[in-house]
Amino acid sequence: MTFTRAATAALLLRAIGCAAAPVAQAATGTVAAAAPPATFTANPHIGPGGNSFKDSAHFRVYGAPSTGTADAALDMLEAAYSCFVDALGWRSSGLSFNNDADDGPWTKANLYSVESLPGAAGVMHSGYATGLPWLEVQHEYTSDPGVTMVANWVADTYKTSELCAGARSQFGQPTTATNINLQKVIGDSFQVLVDATADSGNYYEAWPFLTYLTANPDEFAGLGRDTVRELFRQYQRGSNETPLHTLSRLVAASSATAQQVVGRYWARMAYVDIGHPTAQQVFLQQRDDINCANLDAQGSGTWRVKSTRRPRYMGANIVPLRTSGSSTTVNARVNANGGAAFTATLAVRNTSSGATRYVDLPNGSGSTAVAAGEEVSLVVANTPALIQYDAFELGSDAQAGLDCTVTISGATA
Ligand SMILES: *[C@@H]1O[C@H](CO)[C@@H](O)[C@H](O)[C@H]1NC(C)=O
Ligand SMILES: *[C@@H]1O[C@H](CO)[C@@H](O)[C@H](O)[C@H]1NC(C)=O
Repeated sequence: MTFTRAATAALLLRAIGCAAAPVAQAATGTVAAAAPPATFTANPHIGPGGNSFKDSAHFRVYGAPSTGTADAALDMLEAAYSCFVDALGWRSSGLSFNNDADDGPWTKANLYSVESLPGAAGVMHSGYATGLPWLEVQHEYTSDPGVTMVANWVADTYKTSELCAGARSQFGQPTTATNINLQKVIGDSFQVLVDATADSGNYYEAWPFLTYLTANPDEFAGLGRDTVRELFRQYQRGSNETPLHTLSRLVAASSATAQQVVGRYWARMAYVDIGHPTAQQVFLQQRDDINCANLDAQGSGTWRVKSTRRPRYMGANIVPLRTSGSSTTVNARVNANGGAAFTATLAVRNTSSGATRYVDLPNGSGSTAVAAGEEVSLVVANTPALIQYDAFELGSDAQAGLDCTVTISGATA
């Protein structure tokens, strides 16, 4: 597995995440495991080994060009470990994926600092026999958390979230800028929610969906701080299901559906109101440059989605509406050709306080009063019944676009 940018903390947690699925206990309860030792045992036979190394409690860095760079990498790794494993209960990187009981032995994860890597800043390996991960990272990236959907969510959470604030401060790590790429996430929101097509896909950018699930601003029962960890743990082994199938089980307790969750995620992306304050600041700075030209006017207050921007599987159109500026009532009616399933929402934001509200449009229709000083967007997500799909090889079902027309009064698209 290779990454085009640096990703040491993300790679590590990806290693933990990848290892989490095979040992998942079925849905219920916490697993009582033996307490790990304060310092794990080093194993030079995981990866190429070497004579030049520096250790911390849970990691060993080989081949760093200086003690300073080794220390910086170890501090970053320990901070990530402290946040995700100690604070958030992810599986330890010291455990083999063959260790079903989670009772050890506990082994230091080896990071090899290397001069160069072909086409990547970092690479994660795992030993099949040992069941343990090891990383190779270019020298200049060994203390740079940075990168695919889950790894990028880990990196961004590590760098920006309150969830990791204690761990960052304990290991002297800065809070740094978010990785969010709104030109992609919003500008190409019509794409499949996670599309791993080479060059045009969004799999490096799609992680804000996981941030939304984690922050859970809509308070869906079954979602929250531990959702990403639970998506691994509660994956139905051997089922080949998608994470959206797992998600639908997580929210079943609240009688919500994955479709509703996806619909509300996109509604909140109209103003990046997903529980990530610095991402919203980025939105407020960049909003004028984001492509939201999704519709063509048909006359008589009706618009139709451009054929090239029809929302595909679990993607959406976010349409900022123009109002006269004085108080008005906005009515919207969305019709999908062929009766396709969708989730439509009006997102309303008070431009001075930033307060938001969301108005569901059942069966595509509804209205809301919009006051002077409020702005409003129409958001339509393509939310059909869940399908099996491979993000790296999208089938025609995932790529089928939602062709819809919208009729609006009290505002224009
Ligand atoms: C918007 O926020 C401002 C500042 O908090 C407040 O004075 C105003 O009443 C709000 N507008 C609406 C329509 O709630
Ligand atoms: C939506 O449409 C369905 C099927 O036509 C109907 O049964 C349901 O009552 C409608 N819901 C609302 C809120 O209009």
